[in-house]
Amino acid sequence: MDTVIEVLSGIFSQAFEKAGYDAGLGRAVVSARPDLCQFQVNGAMGAAKVYHKAPMMIAKDVLAALDENEVIERVDLAAPGFINIMVKDSFLCRYLNGMLEDKNLGFEKTKEPKNIVIDYGGPNVAKALHVGHLRSAVIGESLKRLNRFAGHNVISDAHLGDWGLQMGLIIYELSVRKPELCYFDESYQGEYPEAAPFDLKDLEEIYPFASAKSKEDEDYLIKARNATQELQKGRRGYRALWAHIMNVSLPDLKRNYSRLAVDFDFWKGESDADNYIPAMVKEMKDKGFAYESQGALVVDVEEESDNQPIPPCMILKSDGSAIYETTDLATLVQRKEDFSPDRVMYVVDKRQWLHFERVFRCAKKTGIVDEKTELSFIGFGTVNGKDGKPFKTRAGGTLKLSDMLDMVEDKVSIKGEEALGADEVLNLKKTIGLAAVKYGDLMNPIESNYIFDIDKFASFEGNTGPYILYTMVRIKSILEKLREKGVEALACFNGFSLGSERELALALSRFSYIIHEAVKKDAPSIVCSYIYETANKFNVFYHEKKILAEDDVKVLGSLLALIKLTLGVLDISINLLGFNAPERM
Ligand code: ARG
Repeated sequence: MDTVIEVLSGIFSQAFEKAGYDAGLGRAVVSARPDLCQFQVNGAMGAAKVYHKAPMMIAKDVLAALDENEVIERVDLAAPGFINIMVKDSFLCRYLNGMLEDKNLGFEKTKEPKNIVIDYGGPNVAKALHVGHLRSAVIGESLKRLNRFAGHNVISDAHLGDWGLQMGLIIYELSVRKPELCYFDESYQGEYPEAAPFDLKDLEEIYPFASAKSKEDEDYLIKARNATQELQKGRRGYRALWAHIMNVSLPDLKRNYSRLAVDFDFWKGESDADNYIPAMVKEMKDKGFAYESQGALVVDVEEESDNQPIPPCMILKSDGSAIYETTDLATLVQRKEDFSPDRVMYVVDKRQWLHFERVFRCAKKTGIVDEKTELSFIGFGTVNGKDGKPFKTRAGGTLKLSDMLDMVEDKVSIKGEEALGADEVLNLKKTIGLAAVKYGDLMNPIESNYIFDIDKFASFEGNTGPYILYTMVRIKSILEKLREKGVEALACFNGFSLGSERELALALSRFSYIIHEAVKKDAPSIVCSYIYETANKFNVFYHEKKILAEDDVKVLGSLLALIKLTLGVLDISINLLGFNAPERM
């Protein structure tokens, strides 16, 4: 189905053309003055400059050229040349009935599906997920769902941090603690034990310990770097330890992501890029892009238009080991071979922009990706505490993601808890807690920082996830009562008896348009604002209309259709944001 905006744009483009103006000027938009009209066409103002004519005269010409149609109820002109539009209720009813019949509520998938790789999550192996990992997971998951819904072929990849210094730090610290282990004996030829010489708890203690130590002990750092280099070069015992670290850490990461309802098609890591590095480096050298600078291998990526210096992109360190840039570049080689992406999106902390700027430039310049491949850095802002500084625990440490989710679930209060079973209460807290966290994040523009305010996020009132869920559960319970009355088959829009009913209907009719906008702009926040507005409109309508007392069959049919569609719109929307609603709460 065309969106209502498309329908109106079609009608007005024709009218502009017929009146002798450019058809493109007939684009309709949602009204900026809902008190005056439902939609607007503002092209007369633009046309005035081109055609050297007063906008009002142009608007009048357009009005005169408007063909008879079944869509428009009334057009008003407002100074200096706004074309204000009201649509016919009968059109709106037809349109909404069309939505109701379609499982995607009239949303049309793209006719030009792209291959899109979304790189998000980016957890570092052997480190517990913390608050800093929340946004990448939540935003990436939503962008994945939005693009898939839009009809693109989306491949999601967690891009584990599993090849850098943190691995060397753990390996070196282990060698200090347990030098007797066979992994450190270079003459050892046998099989390595199947069981890891540490468990998750150990790992979570070893890594921060080693990391802190490396910051104050230069010699320690050098040794950890050496271990990283030897690991990358393929030292047998280190590779075996690496595999143990992965085996211990990955299941825990997977558990955490699944708790967030986040999943990946691939759990590839930086280490998977390793095989692609030698050929990539050779090609960059052969083509004359990569050269040695102070021992390291670099590619210049400066551009004339730069208004700040952009340092060269380092390809290999002077000791020949791979760094963050190397693995990201080689991963692009792998992605091109495996997925031929039209677009690669990276959902990463915006403070990493320079890294990506250099990687992207280098990839384009050296031909690792085609000129037409779109590389998008989706940089997000920081999760702050109420003090406006990056969120910390009371003790001043970084908060583990799982602890944070526990805290939120604790905060969620369930009405009539006593009447429910313990399991149901637990599940409700999980469902509502997740909505609180995800909505609290996604409602903000991606690039903004936001304050993580548990009390606010978990509240059932205001612009929150729980409020949206609460509204949906309310609708479900009305539908249930109507079902008991046996009126289900009546659902069909026939007209609107109240202003608030029409308002809600209009909001619902915008569903497709909103989703297209959110996809086009990589902006889940657009969906959040939309469902908040829709939920509000529903609640206003609900307070004005005694739905269950209605017994005029035609009116009842329309009411039923309206609440069914409201639920449908909210349901698809929250799913695209990455959470679900319970049956009751
Ligand atoms: N592991 C990285 C970090 O913690 C994030 C990875 C982002 N993705 C990427 N392709 N570099 O900073």
